[in-house]
Amino acid sequence: MAGFTHIRHVEDARQAARRRLPRGLFEYIDRGAEDEVSIAGNRAKLDAIELAPSVLIDVTRRGAAAEIFGVGQPSPLIIAPTAVAGLVWHDGEIALARAAARSGIPFCVSTQSITSIERIAAESGARLWFQLYVWKNRERTLALIDRAAKAGAEALVLTVDTAVGPTREYNLRNGFGIPLKASWRAGIDVVRHPRWAVGVMLRALTTSGVPTYAHYPDEFRTRLGRAALSTEVDLAPDVTWNDVRLLRERWKGKLILKGILTVADAKTALSHGVDGIVVSNHGARNLDCAPGPTDMLPAIVAAVGDRMEILADSGVRRGADIARFIALGAKGVMIGRATLYGVAIGGADGAGHVLDILHQQLSATMGLLGANRLGDIRLA
Ligand SMILES: Cc1cc2nc3c(=O)[nH]c(=O)nc-3n(C[C@H](O)[C@H](O)[C@H](O)COP(=O)(O)O)c2cc1C
Repeated sequence: MAGFTHIRHVEDARQAARRRLPRGLFEYIDRGAEDEVSIAGNRAKLDAIELAPSVLIDVTRRGAAAEIFGVGQPSPLIIAPTAVAGLVWHDGEIALARAAARSGIPFCVSTQSITSIERIAAESGARLWFQLYVWKNRERTLALIDRAAKAGAEALVLTVDTAVGPTREYNLRNGFGIPLKASWRAGIDVVRHPRWAVGVMLRALTTSGVPTYAHYPDEFRTRLGRAALSTEVDLAPDVTWNDVRLLRERWKGKLILKGILTVADAKTALSHGVDGIVVSNHGARNLDCAPGPTDMLPAIVAAVGDRMEILADSGVRRGADIARFIALGAKGVMIGRATLYGVAIGGADGAGHVLDILHQQLSATMGLLGANRLGDIRLA
């Protein structure tokens, strides 16, 4: 894509995003939790997976087309839900959704999005999924999913790996937190990143005001800069399978649990009428002693893969990583940070460029593997 010729792989986009964003915001996106053991673990585990090349195969007509929940799409990708994507670029969630629409893949809107699902739907034309964090007030939570259904969300993605807030000491040190807090350190960080300060923060302040969580009920909608007005919309630490039952009764579309890492939980999800799961350790952002999704995927696929859709994420930085997840049995792969780096450097075009790179790399990997379809990709 014109304008991004210097961005040749995801790491280039990451470095460009690092230069553009305030350090606190960049670290919030980029880093892990506690000692960041599992962020390195995800990388090492992906790198250790070797795929089996078959030679002397005509790969002229190869393609990465996938079918997820019976809907065809040109690649097995879904843009993962990421809180506050609207802080990395003006209307960042709309930009991500437009990039997804152009690539023919779904965009999953986060509960903690800065832009409402209604606006994202109206201004992107993308296929939308909606990610849910359950609030303490369950009635309000159900009202939120009704709102997502009305806006056309095809799937509800209940995130189940965030029962409590993770420990990220670097964000305490660098001054970034939600709600945003004014501090000398944060102020200097913003001033040192003028393109972001003008293009995102000033633009927000002069149009819609201080960015807020768009899905929070009006009466509790706080500016990110102020403390929450009510604990009703705090994330609930007592979410159980009973909530899955409630959601299954209420939600007519596909129901997905994101953050499953054991066979036992995958089976329980199946018995609750869940349609799909995302085998994920949340991009190594939460539990720092979690296994990698690549460790758990084969056993989960063997146990329930014929009865529910198995998706995966955490750590994709190259097309080969997508191929690795597919070889382990995933039907679809979510992309979190990679497209966030892209949107941070160039809105929808930047995110689209990163998707194109991943797609080209996947196509090259498939060609070298002698794989004409995703189903031909095999472990070595
Ligand atoms: C900045 C950021 C915010 C995120 N916010 C959410 C969220 O609101 N809900 C959720 O389920 N997952 C969230 N995630 C996790 C992603 O959905 C996804 O699981 C993870 O990023 C995948 O790993 P990757 O970034 O290595 O691709 C977030 C990830 C990042 C990087």
